[in-house]
Amino acid sequence: MQLPKLDHRLQTAVPFVREGATVADVGTDHAYLPVFLTGTGQARFAVASDINEGPIERAAQHVAEYGLSDKVKTVRADGLAGLEEYRPTDIIVFGMGGELIVRILRDAPWVKDPAIRLILQPMTHAECLRRYLAEEGFATVGEVLSREGGKIYQTVVAAYNGTPQSIDALTAELGRFATAKNEEEPLRAPLIAHRIEVLEAAAAGKEKAGRDTGAERAFIARLRECL
Ligand SMILES: C[S@@+](CC[C@H](N)C(=O)[O-])C[C@H]1O[C@@H](n2cnc3c(N)ncnc32)[C@H](O)[C@@H]1O
Repeated sequence: MQLPKLDHRLQTAVPFVREGATVADVGTDHAYLPVFLTGTGQARFAVASDINEGPIERAAQHVAEYGLSDKVKTVRADGLAGLEEYRPTDIIVFGMGGELIVRILRDAPWVKDPAIRLILQPMTHAECLRRYLAEEGFATVGEVLSREGGKIYQTVVAAYNGTPQSIDALTAELGRFATAKNEEEPLRAPLIAHRIEVLEAAAAGKEKAGRDTGAERAFIARLRECL
């Protein structure tokens, strides 16, 4: 059977998953990534986990349809709770808010292991995630962008190296795209433009409520200078 076709956002995980990996896909929903990665043989085994019953049922059905039930274990779990026993080498957390991803990582201190790779795609608050990773001693392994349905998504890949760092606001917001050249990454300018739009809408809301937005406006001006 032909493997599922991954959209651009999900595809960004694939090159970062190491050959022979044991994958944990947290918040798997349909288990598209575990099916794809074990179906191609890139991953040796995968745990597809989700906090909700509906997604886990969907995931198990999908895995069975592809005849991969011996390679993908579906598990109902909150974040990484209980997943340590599968000894995942490559952990994927895609399609959740950045603050929730931080909470999931904070609750699983065992991911502070240089052998474990974290492949993360925050839907919101990428800046919280990058700040947490840097301050907790995770080094960035790679960063890529994707476009899906008119939105730009950031994928951040990291591994623990035990050297905490503080990062500035621009790096937290854009990672390597704060300084990269537009020619190198065609989605860089659309990402920055999108972030300006989101932050401007938030600032306008605050102003309407009579609150000061000096800091927000200054940050938006710095983002404009990056374009
Ligand atoms: C928007 S879907 C993303 C699905 C898939 N990872 C993707 O990127 O296309 C978010 C999924 O995360 C699950 N989820 C939310 N909070 C979770 C948590 N604390 N632990 C595990 N799964 C969670 C939801 O049930 C849902 O299936």
